[in-house]
Amino acid sequence: MLKMRGFHILFFALFICFSCHQEEVSSNCTTSPGLQELSSFPIGIAVDMDFLDFDPEYERLLNQQFGQLTPGNIFKPSNLQPAEGQFYFDEADRLLAYADLNGKALHGHTLLWHQQLPQWMEDFEGSPAEWEAMLKNHIQSVVGHFKGRLRAWDVVNEAFDEDGSLRETIWKQHLGASYIEKAFRYAHAADPDALLFLNDYNLALSPRKRRAMFDLVKDFQRRGVPIHGIGLQMHISLSFPSDAEIGDCLKDASQLGLPIHLSELDISVNPLARNITFDENLAQRQARKGAYVLSAYQKVPAALQYGITFWGLSDRDSWIPSYFGRDDYPLLFDRDYQTKPMYCQFKALLNP
Ligand code: G3I
Repeated sequence: MLKMRGFHILFFALFICFSCHQEEVSSNCTTSPGLQELSSFPIGIAVDMDFLDFDPEYERLLNQQFGQLTPGNIFKPSNLQPAEGQFYFDEADRLLAYADLNGKALHGHTLLWHQQLPQWMEDFEGSPAEWEAMLKNHIQSVVGHFKGRLRAWDVVNEAFDEDGSLRETIWKQHLGASYIEKAFRYAHAADPDALLFLNDYNLALSPRKRRAMFDLVKDFQRRGVPIHGIGLQMHISLSFPSDAEIGDCLKDASQLGLPIHLSELDISVNPLARNITFDENLAQRQARKGAYVLSAYQKVPAALQYGITFWGLSDRDSWIPSYFGRDDYPLLFDRDYQTKPMYCQFKALLNP
């Protein structure tokens, strides 16, 4: 009995000791040097052109902190081919020129998705051969336009449902499951040097979805279908997925032997859309979650670290508040472009 009590006291003491070692992370760390300078792999953001064009502080921080840019919207089919056969590259070219001028890599996002399609594509009528010609023309015109100038493409985005079945997109409906393989082959033919990614979300939270996607990747690898990387979107929150689920997902992904992109990282602090204040407690919990994600990624073999992309720069340009109609604070900088503890935590871990 005494032994048991001793054990409980020891356990309690260890617990207290562990809790007190979760050091507070400050939000006041210097922004120079930027994150990219400290990192051996690319660190980037999804770029919003309105902010890049009209908000000098956004542009300054983007340029100072990040080495890789993903267009948040302007490379999607609704932007690049708004009318059938009429391609609009002006804005995309402008972003590419900005990236070139400032020494940033560009990650193309995305060739095929079920959202942000132009109406004419959604309404397209034709035989399977005509659908394939339409898909081929979009992919090859777009990839061909940027040939040799982009690091990589998200070829197909969000192809799976949560239960692991293929999502019923217009592509699947008209071309069957093989549309994914076709997309990769056409993209590769148009730019053999570009890395081609399959990108999806909830892969840590949903093992069935992950298994289905990774099985497809393995099948492509066996049959020589050109696939060069996987994108694990990381739209996560403080509690879900758990750290262990994120770790398992990264371990599984590493076994594929392909570069891994943590492609759309943001950490929601208000997934249940409550009335909240973003206080120090939430900021610290967010920093700890971010620290877990980064340290798990740092354990991935260096050759597979394609990079980490935040889905936005600051809480001001995050897609989450407007998309879900709720208050949220998911990114590295606050709405006044001040650093948050998560930013300082990233700095500390990149530069131990
Ligand atoms: O272009 C119009 C503009 O003219 C208008 O003034 C403005 C008013 O709200 O809306 C603009 O369109 C919005 C567009 O973003 C550009 O800001 C759309 O309404 C809005 O729905 C669209 O949201 C984008 C969303 O994809 C669409 O599903 C987000 O910005 C973009 O960050 C988000 O990104 C996706 C990834 O591509 C794939 N993974 C999920 C991720 C989050 O949904």
